[in-house]
Amino acid sequence: MKVPFTWKVTGWFVIGWSAEFPIGESRALHYLGEELAAYRDEAGELHLLTAHCRHLGAHIGHGGKVVGDCIECPFHGWRWGPDGTNRYIPYQPDRPNRALTLRVYPVREQHGVVFMWYQPEGKEPQWELPDIFTKFPEFDGDPDDYYRPFPEFSRRAENEPVHPQIVAENGPDSSHFRYVHGASVTPVCLNWEMVDNEWRFLTGWPDVRSDDPEKMSLRIHSHFSGLGFAISLFEGAQNHRLIFACTPVDDERSDLFYSIWWPRNAGDESDVPPEDVRALVERRFLVTVFEDLNIWRYQQYVEKPPLAKVDAAPYMAMRQWAKQFYEVPPAGQAASTA
Ligand code: FES
Ligand SMILES: [Fe+2]
Repeated sequence: MKVPFTWKVTGWFVIGWSAEFPIGESRALHYLGEELAAYRDEAGELHLLTAHCRHLGAHIGHGGKVVGDCIECPFHGWRWGPDGTNRYIPYQPDRPNRALTLRVYPVREQHGVVFMWYQPEGKEPQWELPDIFTKFPEFDGDPDDYYRPFPEFSRRAENEPVHPQIVAENGPDSSHFRYVHGASVTPVCLNWEMVDNEWRFLTGWPDVRSDDPEKMSLRIHSHFSGLGFAISLFEGAQNHRLIFACTPVDDERSDLFYSIWWPRNAGDESDVPPEDVRALVERRFLVTVFEDLNIWRYQQYVEKPPLAKVDAAPYMAMRQWAKQFYEVPPAGQAASTA
């Protein structure tokens, strides 16, 4: 999809699930146009570095070996530390080249989900990562009361032609639910606000069994943290939480990540969801990403959309808010000197 803004978006982005990064293993990743190498050191800490070794350019995510808290390049055995510095050169063991460093990307793991911080010039995180279980103080949750999100309740769609802003635009778009998701009612936007890096909205699903149009059978509280992901809490018959994330791969594509935390059945001691719960969540929720994708894959970006009155204000406000995460011009366009 061609968009008039950059794919090198500033913010926190999901890059996978903790279980995909076992202790002592390295992995090659490619996000935000960068070649990356992730490794979990022997103490269990996860690290993310620029992939190409500063010696002769080998990719340390392909065959890099974990040694203590370092990663050893598969080409000539130079070792790199979690702070990106050169720690060891085999043929001059007492003289590492301390001036050589790999760029380090801040990573966080939260409830089994892995996030990276990205800022085009390598600046430190500009805001803290919100926690899905404390984000909505009026609905405090204990992660132990939920089934594990991975792998049963997680989905990834790779290399989709979708920019994170397009995913975010889905939030204030109330009328697509009926068509794309087969909803029997059209949800209403009850509230929306922008607070710094957050775009928050509250959507209500009118209760069809009530004559009172104000009565809602379900409320969805969603907070975007930058453009990378939204966390949502469903307030209704089932009170589950979810994260929906879009991480640019390069200047054309993104990976989408979706995880659901579903409350455990009373008395169930296992964190693995039982078959009937899995089937329900699959049918009702996990499919929705792919329904949206059917639109996004073929959609064209419209800069001045003729919006319906109900959608116009939040939609345009959201686009305005999104601009703070575009710190560089789109690819192929020179930085403006204005
Ligand atoms: S290229 Fe990495 S040690 Fe030589
Ligand atoms: Fe949708």
